[in-house]
Amino acid sequence: MEFSIKNGNPEKQRNACVIVGVFEHRKLSGAAAEIDRVSEGYLGSLMRRGDMDGKLGTTLIVHNVPGTLCERVLLVGCGKEREFTDRAYRQAIQASVKALSGTGAVDAASFLAELSVRRRDLGWRVEQMVTVTSDALYRFSHPSCKKDDDRRSFSRLVINVPQRNDLRRVEHALRRGLAISGGVRLAKDLGNLPGNICTPTYLAEQAGELAKTHNLQLEVLERSDMEKLGMGSLLSVARGSRQPPKLIVLQYKKGKTGQKPMVLIGKGITFDAGGISLKPAGEMDEMKYDMCGAASALGTIKAVADLDLAINLVVVIPACENLPDGDANKPGDIVTSMSGQTIEVLNTDAEGRLILCDAMTYVEKFGPDTVIDIATLTGACVIALGHHASGLFGNEESLVKDLDNAGELAFDRAWPLPLWDDYQEQIKSNFADMANIGGRPGGSITAACFLSRFAKKYSWAHLDIAGTAWKSGKEKGATGRPVALLTHFILKRAGHR
Ligand code: BES
Ligand code: MN
Ligand code: ZN
Repeated sequence: MEFSIKNGNPEKQRNACVIVGVFEHRKLSGAAAEIDRVSEGYLGSLMRRGDMDGKLGTTLIVHNVPGTLCERVLLVGCGKEREFTDRAYRQAIQASVKALSGTGAVDAASFLAELSVRRRDLGWRVEQMVTVTSDALYRFSHPSCKKDDDRRSFSRLVINVPQRNDLRRVEHALRRGLAISGGVRLAKDLGNLPGNICTPTYLAEQAGELAKTHNLQLEVLERSDMEKLGMGSLLSVARGSRQPPKLIVLQYKKGKTGQKPMVLIGKGITFDAGGISLKPAGEMDEMKYDMCGAASALGTIKAVADLDLAINLVVVIPACENLPDGDANKPGDIVTSMSGQTIEVLNTDAEGRLILCDAMTYVEKFGPDTVIDIATLTGACVIALGHHASGLFGNEESLVKDLDNAGELAFDRAWPLPLWDDYQEQIKSNFADMANIGGRPGGSITAACFLSRFAKKYSWAHLDIAGTAWKSGKEKGATGRPVALLTHFILKRAGHR
């Protein structure tokens, strides 16, 4: 998909389609009114006849509109003008992409970014036009999974801005949108791959590809390396699998030398059957998504490298499978983490925290400025926040606030949850320093409490993306979240926006 920015009149565009917004109560947007004027009231008459009422998300394609140079005009319903929020703007874009993909149009000029949206500037509207459009056009394809569909498809979008002098101003927004979309696409592709293809070894290979194309340093620690480091917790999970575990370390160094790096740790369970505490069969296939934290960390480092940000960034991915096996963790087993703290494994299905905790100790060696882990960690987080917000935790208020703001800016939102010591009580063990589960109440909080015990030496945040990393049901698929949130967070830390 190709995006560009332009300033022009809607009636003069020679594209296969011109996209304009209309509101309820026959209120035309500026661009729609312009087309209405040159066509001597054609759009107005369509609306009077009731073919388009402007309801949010509705669309109407009209061909050969008098006075225009394009093949078609796509009218997009934007709802009530006074209620045109950021969410409505995104829905209007989604609807326009959906309407176009059923046609023969290969390119279009959209005037939707000209609409004013409460609290959101033109740069935001341009960036979102790019990310929402790429999102809506995404199709998973992989040689081993499915033949590419060879439909003639929509592949060029010109984003119109209201004034000539906006052109330069929104260039950065366009770049941001493209970089984020690229990162999201990578995260979706990896997330959607089945567990028999996307193994820990495959993730390490993909990290290698990224290292080559984006000039990153790669190191992959093998089982023997992890043994030497004393990663007893991570290795205890890997023991139940025939796939060798990997600890993937990718470094991007465009910050000042000696500047403390930001570290992202992504949970890379390439399939989570639960282990001996086996999960029920229904929807177990979705546990191929249990590496979406890893995928989003890779997507983010790709976006950061594409934007050439002046920052030092390290991505660390503990990767393995969680399967039942004669050698797998058993409930009651006690393992020793790299930190020296012992853990009683009361439920082998709470494996994410077991692999993350050793990665969290490992990254101390980078003397990090900030550590953020991203994990599809708990079903409880889905119950607490549903599928709209990622769970957000941290041991430093300003870090939590910054991540919260980045999510708001990216429309990839997170919601803070408490990490009070009161909850720590729930993971006490009679036999080890801690248990790996804290019971059903506040399950995502006790998981975060567990991780916090390994984050004593740096400022740390945790994103529980169990509810946001993929969609179930008819639209089953990875979402690429929270690449947009993380990229915005890093942009801010690198001194942009
Ligand atoms: N990967 C799962 C979390 C998960 C579950 C994500 C459902 C999305 C949907 C994680 O490893 C897990 O199994 N967590 C357990 C923890 C429990 C045993 C304390 C859970 O949430 O049920
Ligand atoms: Mn699990
Ligand atoms: Zn898991």
